[in-house]
Amino acid sequence: MKAVRIHAHGGIDQLRYEDTEDPQLRSSNDVIVKLKAAAVNRIDLAARAGIGCRVNSIPRILGADGAGTVVSVGTNARHIRPGDAVCLYPIYGCGECRFCASQHESLCSERRFLGERDDGTYAEFVRVPATNCFPIPSSLSFEEAAAFPLVYVTVWRMLITRGDLKPGESVWIVGAGGGIATAALQIAGAIGARIIVSSRDKEKLSSAKNLGAEHGIHSENAELAKVVRRLTDKRGVDVVVNCVGGETWPTSLAALARGGRLLTCGAVANAQPKTDLRRVFWNHLKILAAGSGTRQEFLRVLNFFATTRRKPIVDHVFPLQDAMSAQRRLAEKRQFGKIVLRMET
Ligand SMILES: NC(=O)c1ccc[n+]([C@@H]2O[C@H](COP(=O)([O-])OP(=O)(O)OC[C@H]3O[C@@H](n4cnc5c(N)ncnc54)[C@H](OP(=O)(O)O)[C@@H]3O)[C@@H](O)[C@H]2O)c1
Ligand SMILES: [Zn+2]
Repeated sequence: MKAVRIHAHGGIDQLRYEDTEDPQLRSSNDVIVKLKAAAVNRIDLAARAGIGCRVNSIPRILGADGAGTVVSVGTNARHIRPGDAVCLYPIYGCGECRFCASQHESLCSERRFLGERDDGTYAEFVRVPATNCFPIPSSLSFEEAAAFPLVYVTVWRMLITRGDLKPGESVWIVGAGGGIATAALQIAGAIGARIIVSSRDKEKLSSAKNLGAEHGIHSENAELAKVVRRLTDKRGVDVVVNCVGGETWPTSLAALARGGRLLTCGAVANAQPKTDLRRVFWNHLKILAAGSGTRQEFLRVLNFFATTRRKPIVDHVFPLQDAMSAQRRLAEKRQFGKIVLRMET
């Protein structure tokens, strides 16, 4: 089959589109999926660079997100048949600890994403446990079904399970164009929250407004926190979604209402920002985090797409052999929504 692999860690030029062996069933619980699409995530950039990821051997096929059609199934995989259209829950655990036993692999100390210790989805075929395969909501194309898993399950955990966002609450999403930001925009909008976004790009601000954001603020505005307060009757926002860190972190704390929640699942700019703890305790703030999500939350996301008929935002679709351009677009932060790879066969 054709796949995109790394043979060494490093820059984008390490990605090689090449022939490799088709994956085979390794256990009776496995299935082989013929992929139609994969999505590009920041974790793929980390895996390629060899920084902050759990790739344990190379060559390695990257890619955590994918969707396609099941082509062969192990003898124990009874809930799934060849021909089923599936999207993939992208997380694995050790299978034995108390978190894995309660389907919370995302909390397992051995947690890894597809494309780290197992070959991933930048390929024509992938082997996964049958339990990681879920039916694609009928309203979604293969490309849309590949685009959502990792970011949506993370945002669901961060915004709904942990953040407990309620209709009518105000939320500031730091950044407009990212996978996390666009997923947060859609889920918060569906709930009936009032949404403010900030972005370094005017066009992304207007795209976010078209998707339901009430206000868009340019990130270079030196008075971001003040503007957010002004837009919320000087109260501050109930919730901030911040996967950026760096200088946006203290600004986010300053923009929160008393008792507000600061939600995080990443740190694109800087993971060690300054925090004025007095602001946190005097204002009774909560800082809540998510490092991916559980299977139950994945099911909720599937249900979200099925019932709201909303679709994940796809920024751009590249052919698989153009994975370098896809990763470059993500690394340069030019996207609005998810960048997807399409398999041509
Ligand atoms: N823990 C998890 O399970 C999980 C899952 C997915 C992602 N993440 C993490 O979450 C983070 C975001 O992921 P993503 O997929 O959304 O990445 P992405 O698509 O590259 O988006 C990056 C976002 O950050 C904003 N941004 C980047 N640099 C900025 C800066 N200097 N100042 C202000 N805003 C900035 C961008 O906003 P504009 O371009 O609009 O300005 C954009 O919304 C990453 O750290 C990723 O690793 C974690
Ligand atoms: Zn475990």
